[in-house]
Amino acid sequence: ETAGAECGFLQRLYQFLHHSSSPALPGPPSRFLIGNMMEMTHDHMPSHLTNLAQRYGNIYRLKCGSTTLVVLNSGEVIREALVKKWSDFAGRPASYTGDIVSGGGRNISLGDYTEEWRAHRRVVHSALLRCCQQSLHGVIERQALHLRKVLMDYQGTAADLSEDFTVAASNVITTLAFGKEYDKTSSELQELHSCLNEIVGLWGSSWISALDSFPLLRKLPNPVFARLLKEVARRDEIIKQHLRDYKLQDNKKADAIMGSLLQAFEKQNNAEQGQLLTDVHVHMTTVDLLIGGTETTAAWLNWTVAFLLHRPEVQTRVYEELCTVLEERYPKYSDRHRLPVLSSVISEVLRLRPVAPLAVPHRAIRDSSIAGYFIPKNTVIIPNLFGAHHDPAVWSEPYSFKPERFLEGGGGSARSLMPFGGGARLCLGESLAKMELFLFTAYLLRDFEFILPERGAPLPDLTGLASVVLKIEAYRVVARPRPLTEP
Ligand code: HEM
Repeated sequence: ETAGAECGFLQRLYQFLHHSSSPALPGPPSRFLIGNMMEMTHDHMPSHLTNLAQRYGNIYRLKCGSTTLVVLNSGEVIREALVKKWSDFAGRPASYTGDIVSGGGRNISLGDYTEEWRAHRRVVHSALLRCCQQSLHGVIERQALHLRKVLMDYQGTAADLSEDFTVAASNVITTLAFGKEYDKTSSELQELHSCLNEIVGLWGSSWISALDSFPLLRKLPNPVFARLLKEVARRDEIIKQHLRDYKLQDNKKADAIMGSLLQAFEKQNNAEQGQLLTDVHVHMTTVDLLIGGTETTAAWLNWTVAFLLHRPEVQTRVYEELCTVLEERYPKYSDRHRLPVLSSVISEVLRLRPVAPLAVPHRAIRDSSIAGYFIPKNTVIIPNLFGAHHDPAVWSEPYSFKPERFLEGGGGSARSLMPFGGGARLCLGESLAKMELFLFTAYLLRDFEFILPERGAPLPDLTGLASVVLKIEAYRVVARPRPLTEP
């Protein structure tokens, strides 16, 4: 007991000495009771936090109720926290509303860094890897060809393609997860997406995040929160139905992720170490894959078409490269190193519009430091990827769409590009997403020229609507078939 007390005392002494020798983190003045809550209610948080970095530097703090948030705004400080000191910052903050959307923290994206979480991520990671090796390329090719047919059916008329992109991305995930794909008109698919979209949108709103910082607000009626609860219940019902259908299938797809997961969970539960993972984990994995894998990819495709409308000559260069390198065939993922112009467009859109602009908040699981500042245990860390990608110290003309910067080797570096985060919480779908972005874009730009609905029509607004996912505001475009495209 005496040894324990001494140890506790020494730890506190170390913390006190360390803390008092470290400079105080800069940040905007904090107001009585509400702290910096007003800074957190901005329409476009990523760009607001990036603007604050100009005044307070690449690392600063914000106060939200009793919580301290530390915002990281450059590749260097983000890498220090997420990669170099990954084991100090691998946690996720527990939150009242996060628990509601994540089945009590039992999904991968919001679960804290525990033994249970590590077992869960390991099982899903290897299931995903196996299924990527066996069938991913074919699944994406099939959806890319299907998307091509959908665009051909517009026959050169202007359309908002966002729903078509969502269906394509979603079908990749549902085929991998359950061996099931949907038609755009399927009511099941529409219900699933309207519900997931609502949850992501509502959860990102300040009406909801205020409940995490100010518990007293939970006692007041809150129609936005009531809607969130209703949508979470609807989501859970839909996913349960999907899992029931999958288990009842006679010819279950052997390589579907759900099959691997159910098998791995059974094996692990029969082992001696006892049951770590349950049906709730299988359920929440489905939510992770659907949310993580659909809106992100679809939003990215929408951004790409919009940026190419702003710089049509870049679109022409990609098309010429595809024709020269591939002649008449469709691309394979292994062709990516022979298609530098296309690859540079992919990187530049990921840089300018990282679709998860503030990643997902991390939590310090022990006392640590970043850039020489003392960071106490439980501090919430916000990696501002959007800010790092617009850092003028790294990128020349950081706000301009210039894919050629990746070809010329100047104006930035691939090392400073981190749209998928890094370290222990690196995006679980990174490999899958990269293959999807490459193949979908290559197929689309080989077969179509994207043009404005009519001469003089306004170009899409590139500001974006930032919630958890950074999306572009709806716009209409014409997909005009290229000569290579067969009718
Ligand atoms: C986490 C980006 C696609 C599943 C993340 C994070 C980022 C990100 C920035 C947070 C990392 C952190 O907390 O430090 C992206 C981008 C995508 C994409 C830019 C596509 C353009 C996908 C896909 C899937 C997926 C296709 C699923 C198949 C996940 C999951 C997590 C995650 C499960 C949570 C990981 C964890 O907490 O350990 N993603 N993502 N993402 N992503 Fe993605």
